[in-house]
Amino acid sequence: MRLAKRLKAIATYVPPGTVVADIGTDHALLPIYLVAKGICPKAVATELNAGPYRSARTAVHLQGLDGKIDVRQGDGLRPLLPGEAQVIVLAGLGGNTIRQILAAAPEVLAAVRRLILQPMVDAGDLRLWLVEEGWRLLDETLVVEDGHLYVILVAEPGREKVSDPFLLEIGPRLVEKKHPLLPAYLSKLMAEYQRVLKALVHSRSPRAEEKALEISDKMARIQEVLKEWQ
Ligand SMILES: C[S@@+](CC[C@H](N)C(=O)[O-])C[C@H]1O[C@@H](n2cnc3c(N)ncnc32)[C@H](O)[C@@H]1O
Repeated sequence: MRLAKRLKAIATYVPPGTVVADIGTDHALLPIYLVAKGICPKAVATELNAGPYRSARTAVHLQGLDGKIDVRQGDGLRPLLPGEAQVIVLAGLGGNTIRQILAAAPEVLAAVRRLILQPMVDAGDLRLWLVEEGWRLLDETLVVEDGHLYVILVAEPGREKVSDPFLLEIGPRLVEKKHPLLPAYLSKLMAEYQRVLKALVHSRSPRAEEKALEISDKMARIQEVLKEWQ
């Protein structure tokens, strides 16, 4: 079976032989691929919402994988028991939602060996949280699919040496490996900051001014990185 580019990139980070839990699985495309290809012996696929939960169950059933992919309905990591999955995938959700889901289940996370995360926004906040919570960024990559640019973070338990906190904003592994899509990723970040700045201009609170300064500083640093790149 074929998988689109973004999910395929995520699949390449799943170590063969591990049990994966795909949280917010929607149509269960990723776990079906991983199990059908024999990369994972079994998987757990979870969904918060009834519609996607039903779609996932139907898709798994149609592939004849009911015995190998357990589809469960529930919020975040709640449907998982500690130790059930060594790898957790959270893809297609906002970075802050991913952070909240992870933070809500420390007992499940304690037994997890790898997180594969694909935040739609706020990747910087998510990296910062991971590092503060004892995860190191093993790898990061960028993928373009249908004109959209996606970032994928791979984290394992460990200590991340942070030489410059700003790097967590833009992706330390992306910078190190000079990922060819980094300039496009940074331009996208700049556009996001620009939008936040515009909204802040209308507020006169001291906190908004402080935030605007912080963002302007980050934008200047991104410009520097982009200049170095050329
Ligand atoms: C945009 S889809 C992404 C689907 C798939 N992970 C992917 O990357 O293609 C997000 C899915 O997450 C589900 N979802 C949102 N919040 C959730 C939560 N707290 N726990 C489990 N699933 C959730 C939604 O119902 C939706 O099906």
